[in-house]
Amino acid sequence: MSTQAWSREELVRAEALARGLSSAAPVFAVRAPGRVNLIGEHTDYSGLPVLPIAIDRSTVAVVSARSDRAIQLANADPAYPARSFALAPEIPPYPPGDWANYVKAAVQGVLTHFSARGIPIDRFLGATFVIDGRVPAAAGLSSSAALTVASALGLMAVNGLELSPREAAAMVARSEWYVGTMAGGMDQAVSLMARQDHAVLIEFNPLRATEVPMPAGAAVVVADSLEVADKSGRVREEYNRRVVECSLAARILGRAFGIDGATILGDIVNQLGNWRADDIVQTLTAIIPERFTGGIAQAAEFLEIPEPELRSALLGEGAARSTLDESRPLECLRRARHVLSETERVHRAVKALSEGRLDEMGGLMDESHRSLRDDFEVSTERLDRMVECARRAGAYGARLTGAGFGGCMIALADAAKSPAILAALERDYYATLAPDAAARALHATMRAGPGASLIRLR
Ligand code: GLA
Repeated sequence: MSTQAWSREELVRAEALARGLSSAAPVFAVRAPGRVNLIGEHTDYSGLPVLPIAIDRSTVAVVSARSDRAIQLANADPAYPARSFALAPEIPPYPPGDWANYVKAAVQGVLTHFSARGIPIDRFLGATFVIDGRVPAAAGLSSSAALTVASALGLMAVNGLELSPREAAAMVARSEWYVGTMAGGMDQAVSLMARQDHAVLIEFNPLRATEVPMPAGAAVVVADSLEVADKSGRVREEYNRRVVECSLAARILGRAFGIDGATILGDIVNQLGNWRADDIVQTLTAIIPERFTGGIAQAAEFLEIPEPELRSALLGEGAARSTLDESRPLECLRRARHVLSETERVHRAVKALSEGRLDEMGGLMDESHRSLRDDFEVSTERLDRMVECARRAGAYGARLTGAGFGGCMIALADAAKSPAILAALERDYYATLAPDAAARALHATMRAGPGASLIRLR
């Protein structure tokens, strides 16, 4: 196992954490990075491609085996209290918002994966983890995925189990479903499969990654809006709502095109082979109302299937059923227009980036932002302001990145221009929020970093 992916600073952090582990068992250290997405937003849960990079902020954890079946968690940040839980076939989550739910999600994922492959859960050893997360939380940089990935790799290591990065990514892809978010697999996949100085085109069903070199001289500027996207509350509801709206659009298109069993927009695109977003949207426009004001009941009538059937297909069953405010209309048309046009943009972006056409890449990012703002309705007034500010200061393009509703903005620029963009953000955005806002907010030029890695410390 090599320390190649590790920065000096991460190794020092790991050594410091390991001093808190007295166990005689082998001690492993794992690093898992956060991510920013260059383009391909809100497409992953439709099974459509994304193009993120890993960032140089990571979660570092040290871990060693226990003789009992407990998972013991300590966190270097006192905001996250110690936790302990037992390995079990069905691990009950902590109340919503508890940090350790992301570890539970990982543990559940590992146990389910390996027990389905003949390794019974009672053969697993417990583990003691000491965790130090440095991906800013609640900023849309996937601090939760970094924690989940680190936990999964750690638990596997102490049990002598290994998977390729791709297999591990597929295993933890749906981990956020454990905390009630119907998220796609982008965050975990890039955390595991990223490569230094490369963006990663991630495609789904089956999961695969293609590296796209970042052009020399291109700078990725990332800036936190300081608007907190609280994933356990309103934002989760809004997110899940988009998942439902997209799935509904896919089912309707499936019926229109005679594609049996289509449940996500990716099913439509894959079956059609040769397609254009405009044409599909036109088909949709011709058959569905602008929006469904009568909720799932109206959509079921439209699809001519029983309402309870559609309801459980879209929202899940029993305790895992997610809630949906049906007094608000379902916006299938505009959501599909975003996802399909965004998918075209991802493919064009891969070409533009590989051929070093940063201007074109920037234009695609601008279009992506407009589509997320107008059709997907996940931007905020503040994110719009930041994006404008970065553009005025000379970026090739800028957009919100991540789920939206707050979190971060990303801009693409010539390396020579990034200091001016950061300065403009300080002057025209942060200074208007609070005198100390710039000091509190992550805003920096970021280099595409390597994916997760595990080493044995002693
Ligand atoms: C969150 C989810 C991802 C993805 C993005 C939006 O980050 O965790 O799976 O859906 O939102 O692109």
